[in-house]
Amino acid sequence: MKRTIKTLVAASLVGGSAATAGAYFGLVNVGADDPHLPAVYAFLSMARDRSIEVRSRDIVVPDLDNQELIRAGAGNYNAMCIGCHLAPGVAETELSQALYPAPPNLAEIGVDGNPAAAFWTIKHGIKATGMPAWGKSMADPYIWGMVAFLQQLPELDAQEYRALVASSGGHQHGGGETDMHNHENQHGTPGDDHHAGEMAGASHHDAAAADHHGGDLASADHPAGETPGASHHDAQPAAAAPKPATKTHTHADGKEHVHAH
Ligand code: HEC
Repeated sequence: MKRTIKTLVAASLVGGSAATAGAYFGLVNVGADDPHLPAVYAFLSMARDRSIEVRSRDIVVPDLDNQELIRAGAGNYNAMCIGCHLAPGVAETELSQALYPAPPNLAEIGVDGNPAAAFWTIKHGIKATGMPAWGKSMADPYIWGMVAFLQQLPELDAQEYRALVASSGGHQHGGGETDMHNHENQHGTPGDDHHAGEMAGASHHDAAAADHHGGDLASADHPAGETPGASHHDAQPAAAAPKPATKTHTHADGKEHVHAH
């Protein structure tokens, strides 16, 4: 028995050192365009699923059939999530195609049969995957709104999806605001990075999200330095020269996009 334990300890020390040495010499390719080996992928998926299952076991799920909750969730989902997770009538985006692991298409899987797990995932995010911890900027009732909405999403067609979003009153940020366009003093800390996530959610390819900040352009209550309505392609440093009327952006595949302002 003692001998077996010694052998096991020695073997794991050798294995551990070999893995550490390999990593130190750069053998691990962290590139998002280089898929994991199947065994590594299976291990990481198992670790993620079990981690979420165990942590969401005791979460008490509220009434998810509440129409107001579903409506609020639709506006927030449309503003913050479709860039990665898509929606009915929304074409694939650069983010949805290029992230690894790939964001699941939530228009198809909804809450994936487990609303408590979806709530936990949205609130806490998933390390090193691109899935943000929305609980840093959104209170629980707003996250439940998105869970309630996601439960309905696979049943919606593009028209029903757009109608629900239009009826939602837009993006609510999640701090209990009454005036959705007044961004001032509503985030915990100055320089709060909430808007970084928002940009990712509001890709310029998504017609449904195109007018997300449309109303903001007209209002003057943005904190200084924030570019109202900026998409992730045209965020510019404050010192940049005056903006041209349009901006052309060329993709690696040679396709050109012209951004109107
Ligand atoms: C920048 C991209 C990105 C954004 C924006 C994003 N997510 Fe995710 N999300 C991901 C990725 C990637 C995963 C999968 C991670 C993995 O496979 O481990 C994920 C996983 C999830 C899951 C788990 C799905 C399942 O059943 O496996 C849910 C639920 C989810 N996201 C909801 C949301 C909601 C709601 C929003 C908006 C508030 C959002 N996400 C915004 C990238 C994103």
